[in-house]
Amino acid sequence: MIMYKIIDKESLNPTVTRMTIEAPLIAKKAEPGQFVILRVDENGERIPLTIADYDRENGYVTIIFQIIGSTTEKLNHMEVGECLYDFVGPLGKPTETEGLKKVAVVGGGVGCAIAYPVAKKLHELGCEVHSIAGFRTQDLVILQNEFENISDIFKLMSDDGSCGTKGLVTDALKELIENGNKYDCVIVIGPMIMMKFVCMLTKEYNVKTIVSMNPIMVDGTGMCGGCRLTVGGETKFACVDGPDFDGHLVDFDEAMKRSSMYKPFETKKREETCNLFKKEVL
Ligand SMILES: Cc1cc2nc3c(=O)[nH]c(=O)nc-3n(C[C@H](O)[C@H](O)[C@H](O)COP(=O)(O)OP(=O)(O)OC[C@H]3O[C@@H](n4cnc5c(N)ncnc54)[C@H](O)[C@@H]3O)c2cc1C
Ligand code: FES
Repeated sequence: MIMYKIIDKESLNPTVTRMTIEAPLIAKKAEPGQFVILRVDENGERIPLTIADYDRENGYVTIIFQIIGSTTEKLNHMEVGECLYDFVGPLGKPTETEGLKKVAVVGGGVGCAIAYPVAKKLHELGCEVHSIAGFRTQDLVILQNEFENISDIFKLMSDDGSCGTKGLVTDALKELIENGNKYDCVIVIGPMIMMKFVCMLTKEYNVKTIVSMNPIMVDGTGMCGGCRLTVGGETKFACVDGPDFDGHLVDFDEAMKRSSMYKPFETKKREETCNLFKKEVL
């Protein structure tokens, strides 16, 4: 049986963890924008996480996850040397980066973990990269140095003004566009509501905008229909047709409604998992 050993684990902030996993076959093929579906144990739920980085030489894949519910809570309790039960990928289509000369990459919260590998690849291809990263508050900031190293312009925004500039990512993007920056494309990754508002802004300026959609996924292979979205009036499956889509065509209101369908069940499951870990500690 293939073992997916945890090679490294680091807390990036109180709710976000970076893990490096030994997965040579995935590391060999992975591209920015793609994701894996993992299971922590045999009876575990399957959850999708973006490939935040890869090391083809050593056969390592990095994931960055927010501890938000039952499975991410369990994953965060695993330690270096332990193995994940399942780690399937790379899934989804890579983000299209070829031919782009000047791009604004916008990340919100843990979405910055998904935005960073895309920004890095664009930088490596010689593209001018303007990055905007938005967080609620200073304690939640992740990957600031990493973004600074690969961006021609980097703007840090916070809701409460505790770091960077007080305001929303849309404020920073509007300013950059108004200052005369002509982007081939804006790539935006974060909470759906944030992506919706960025798309409304870029539509005003007629700038092509790509969003990375994160609906509920089960199999990740186009079989279950769990991740379906309406894009340009057509049904699309985020796992095989995406996760990147033209943001101006996505029906965000429908996507947000579908994503919140399981909230009561998810809250109950997380409480049960937290209680389980509390009992183990006692
Ligand atoms: C393509 C893709 C890439 C993603 N990449 C990342 C990433 O790099 N880092 C990160 O922190 N998160 C990422 N997510 C979101 C991540 O999958 C969820 O946070 C995770 O599944 C939560 O599981 P849970 O059991 O801990 O929480 P739960 O309590 O079960 O759920 C909390 C919230 O997570 C979302 N969620 C739950 N189950 C799923 C599922 N099976 N598929 C998709 N979303 C789900 C829902 O919005 C839900 O409200 C990604 C999602 C998708 C679809
Ligand atoms: S996750 Fe099942 S169809 Fe996409």
